[in-house]
Amino acid sequence: MFRKFLINCQDYIDNYSVHLINTLFLSFSVIIITFGSLIIAVESFLPTFIKKTIRYGKHKCKDDQNSLLNRLEVPKSWFAHFYIFAFGWSICAFYLVLKGIIMHNAAPDAVIAFLDLFGGGRNQRKVLIKSNEALITTLLMTLQCIRRFYETNFVQIFSSKQKIHLSHYIVGYLHYFGAILALLINTEGFVKDSLPSTFSFTKITLIQYMCLALFHFSWSQQWKTNMILVNLRKDSKTGKINSEHHLMPRGGLFEMVSSPHMFFEIQIYVAVMGILYQSLTWKLIVIWVTGNQIVNALLTHKWYKENFKNYPKNRKAIIPFLL
Ligand SMILES: NC(=O)c1ccc[n+]([C@@H]2O[C@H](COP(=O)([O-])OP(=O)(O)OC[C@H]3O[C@@H](n4cnc5c(N)ncnc54)[C@H](OP(=O)(O)O)[C@@H]3O)[C@@H](O)[C@H]2O)c1
Repeated sequence: MFRKFLINCQDYIDNYSVHLINTLFLSFSVIIITFGSLIIAVESFLPTFIKKTIRYGKHKCKDDQNSLLNRLEVPKSWFAHFYIFAFGWSICAFYLVLKGIIMHNAAPDAVIAFLDLFGGGRNQRKVLIKSNEALITTLLMTLQCIRRFYETNFVQIFSSKQKIHLSHYIVGYLHYFGAILALLINTEGFVKDSLPSTFSFTKITLIQYMCLALFHFSWSQQWKTNMILVNLRKDSKTGKINSEHHLMPRGGLFEMVSSPHMFFEIQIYVAVMGILYQSLTWKLIVIWVTGNQIVNALLTHKWYKENFKNYPKNRKAIIPFLL
């Protein structure tokens, strides 16, 4: 019965060329840009469910505390769960790309059928990404997922009171599910009748080296920024956790913006886009991540200004000197 259902879905996707991953990221982008802009411009006129869907963590919407929507909240520390998933999922993708290149074999039929289902159907998927680029970008995203897995599960200090809406929790899984598949959907060896090509450092272009440098810079700076947040809640002498409060961050790029970790998040996805410039799916992911991080950073900035009277006036929300 399930098999019949899958065959029907596949036929529908083939006939109508439905690209589920593009649809997912396009929908996320439209929702965050529309609702995010409304919250920033005319929040007081909006229904509670919109505010609760967009706001989370320290700037979460506190209206209507007893509503059904409040019962759909989970601890913010559950962020750690979807990084466990992202960690495993990205390693699977990296392994498949690496194995394909070493063995010079196409991906297993089941993987190709799975990608057909999510990437536009059997007739629509075309090769746009070379094996060289796929290996580099799956490695980069695996490094990002491993670092976030380590941070959220072993280093970050989440306060026990902070909550996220169930929708944020689900979006976290969908984001990593789709972003990792996006690295394979149009890649040599993962599209029917194509084979992986060989990997060579000599094939890496100057622009791709520049993207690698941007990724390395943003990745390491995001770690440093997250450590500044961790250390705010620790005793500087003993290293023991002494607070669950939100304090005013200082040092590094915090001197210029309220959410440098979100600025570096955008740069990480832009760096990968520079290598995967042919992929429409990755461009949609960049629009979604940029919209999401800007909205969250603007709300965070407003929260800091409301809660710290001496908040530095020259500090911007997310982009130094600009926004
Ligand atoms: N790719 C995407 O679309 C996407 C989406 C969401 C997040 N992210 C990334 O995930 C990372 C975490 O996001 P987030 O929204 O959880 O960031 P966040 O609200 O800044 O929280 C990060 C960590 O720092 C703590 N913290 C924040 N502000 C603090 C303060 N003033 N004093 C002391 N501790 C503080 C938080 O504790 P509490 O939990 O107790 O507040 C949490 O443990 C970021 O790097 C972000 O870029 C990416």
